[in-house]
Amino acid sequence: MGAPISDSWDRGDPYERYVGRWSRRVAPLFLDWLDIPAGRRWLDVGCGTGALCAAILDDCAPAALVGVEPSEGFLEVARRRLGSRATLLPGNAAALALAPSSVDVAVSGLVLNFIPDLPAALAEMTRVTTPDGTIAAYVWDYAGKMDLMRVFWDTAVELDPAIASMDEGTRFPICRPDALVAAFATAGLAAVDTMAIDIPTAFADFDDYWRPFLGGQGPAPAYAVALDDDARDRLHERLRGRLAQWPGGLQAMSARAWAVRARVAG
Ligand SMILES: C[S@@+](CC[C@H](N)C(=O)[O-])C[C@H]1O[C@@H](n2cnc3c(N)ncnc32)[C@H](O)[C@@H]1O
Repeated sequence: MGAPISDSWDRGDPYERYVGRWSRRVAPLFLDWLDIPAGRRWLDVGCGTGALCAAILDDCAPAALVGVEPSEGFLEVARRRLGSRATLLPGNAAALALAPSSVDVAVSGLVLNFIPDLPAALAEMTRVTTPDGTIAAYVWDYAGKMDLMRVFWDTAVELDPAIASMDEGTRFPICRPDALVAAFATAGLAAVDTMAIDIPTAFADFDDYWRPFLGGQGPAPAYAVALDDDARDRLHERLRGRLAQWPGGLQAMSARAWAVRARVAG
């Protein structure tokens, strides 16, 4: 009990099994909404294992695509999956090693809430994007309809109320449409707009739901693996009981992402 808060991003393959697979479902719907013409220069900030990059390559016919990501373990998976189709750089959202106005579209999937200095990151995304270009992102609806994480934290906090501040629904107030609009408007961006993107996250059985948490990637899995065996068994059993009651069964679970888009003032 009492595990420290950790946003562990070390190993790409377990991340793929936990959330990468679901980000891959959100990405094409997000790109449909952006509706960017072919031939544009794209940047993916915090590209991770390449979920959003892959969708940009598949759906948007980019002239160029750069992915920036601090985790070497995640970059390794992105390189394996994307090959030479994208330029993948180690780096941080708050200090992008890109020239001013060097991209037309700067996007980010499931990252904004993990950036310690979001205004600095938005300023950097604005600096590297051409006037009238697009800046857009999506984040999970941690406090609401991101079922797989919502039920995890509700159960974990029920078992140990002392860890309530670790709940991502509490930790990440930016992950609400009004907060996203405010952050983008404060960054000086124009025509800020949000949309809910809902995807099914069907699990074959309880094991299919539980095993990805044991990969230790991201806050909830990092919490699960840091527990001692008895505490983890209690969490496992409580979750199993709770999910046995899930309306419609585990095949009916779903996840909502909040997407935000804006224009760089000309
Ligand atoms: C939930 S993962 C999302 C990865 C990928 N974009 C996706 O959609 O699957 C969060 C990512 O944010 C990255 N990240 C965390 N802090 C960052 C920062 N300051 N700048 C850039 N990326 C960051 C992590 O390394 C990790 O790859």
